[in-house]
Amino acid sequence: MSRKVYLDNASTTFVSGEVLSEILPCFNALYGNSNSLHSYGRDASAIVDRARDRIAHAINAQKSNEIYFTSGGTEADNWAIKGIAKANASKGKHIITSSIEHHAVLDSCKQLEKEGFEVTYLPVDKTGIVSVADLLHAIRKDTILISIMAVNNEVGTIQNIKALAKTAHDYGIIFHTDAVQAIGAFKIDVQDMEIDAMSISAHKIYGPKGVGALYLKNGIAIDNLIDGGTQERGKRGGTVNVPYVAGLGKAVEIACRDISINQQKLKAIRDYFIKSVNEKIDYVQINGHPHQKINGTVNMSFEMVEGESLLMLLDLDGIAVSTTSACMSNALEPSHVLKAMGIEDELAQSAVRFSFGKNLSKSDIDYVVDCLAKDVAKLRSISALTKAGRR
Ligand SMILES: Cc1ncc(COP(=O)(O)O)c(C=O)c1O
Repeated sequence: MSRKVYLDNASTTFVSGEVLSEILPCFNALYGNSNSLHSYGRDASAIVDRARDRIAHAINAQKSNEIYFTSGGTEADNWAIKGIAKANASKGKHIITSSIEHHAVLDSCKQLEKEGFEVTYLPVDKTGIVSVADLLHAIRKDTILISIMAVNNEVGTIQNIKALAKTAHDYGIIFHTDAVQAIGAFKIDVQDMEIDAMSISAHKIYGPKGVGALYLKNGIAIDNLIDGGTQERGKRGGTVNVPYVAGLGKAVEIACRDISINQQKLKAIRDYFIKSVNEKIDYVQINGHPHQKINGTVNMSFEMVEGESLLMLLDLDGIAVSTTSACMSNALEPSHVLKAMGIEDELAQSAVRFSFGKNLSKSDIDYVVDCLAKDVAKLRSISALTKAGRR
């Protein structure tokens, strides 16, 4: 095996050259603590400020001080859900989210349930969309927070965030969105979309792992998740990871600057991949919304094939894909997202996520589809379902 093709960009991406150039000087030439008062500290603080400005500008936040740095999307989600719920608990203890959220949101909600909050998990239709009508129906007098992800990480479905946020605001409820998979896929304008809080991560957009941000509109009350210092205006203790914050700022700037060119490329690659798969492989189902989806992610079920086995055969061919979100890839349960979309267990177990990156060529896709056709045929030839005459 020599050739390698990476189709798991929704799990993580490589760090781009432009981002790396921003990060590296912060490890030696500019190594100050951004909290220190001397010149080393002021230089580091200027780097952190620039990253904050870049992100605020990219998402059209009103002020740069609405961006708070975190250790990633998971911390941003935990902080938004737990921090906003606790700070606003005197107004009510009901939260609404969807059944297809990332576990960073779902598990934060589960934790709050143990602490006396009530959570409604909205259903989705078979394409993965949360309906505004269902949201309206779920809103109660004591609802204080609504959290709906902008883009689902497993199937790529895009939610109607503006309509959902507006509905929340019609009832005076705070609206949070997990935009980890949305940044760079389309323009996000937090003011126009009426978003109060939003989670971001660097490593899905050619930035480093272990750094992210929470956008929090000024005036929204939030309790701290991490105490221990005056950093981030006293809201998130801990020495700021200056190199990675610099990388995050640059990654967000580039992702938002290059949306149009990147999306054009990803769409061409995605469409070519789907066309080639349809020409070479039978009994394939695409999971997710037919149109309202990002270009970078395709979730496919291959009937009579076990997704994990296909992943392993593709791995032997040098091809990286995933069967569910990376954080849950050790779980044996079928994906909670596909389940919520009403996809039966057998098809959910046969699902594979292909997520494209900006460096792929058509020849990479030709190689992947040839391997897929070979591996799917191999697995079907030994499948009990094929033998049982299912097809
Ligand atoms: C939708 C979504 N939210 C949150 C996260 C967690 O982000 P991080 O890996 O930066 O903690 C991920 C990562 O897979 C994600 O896809």
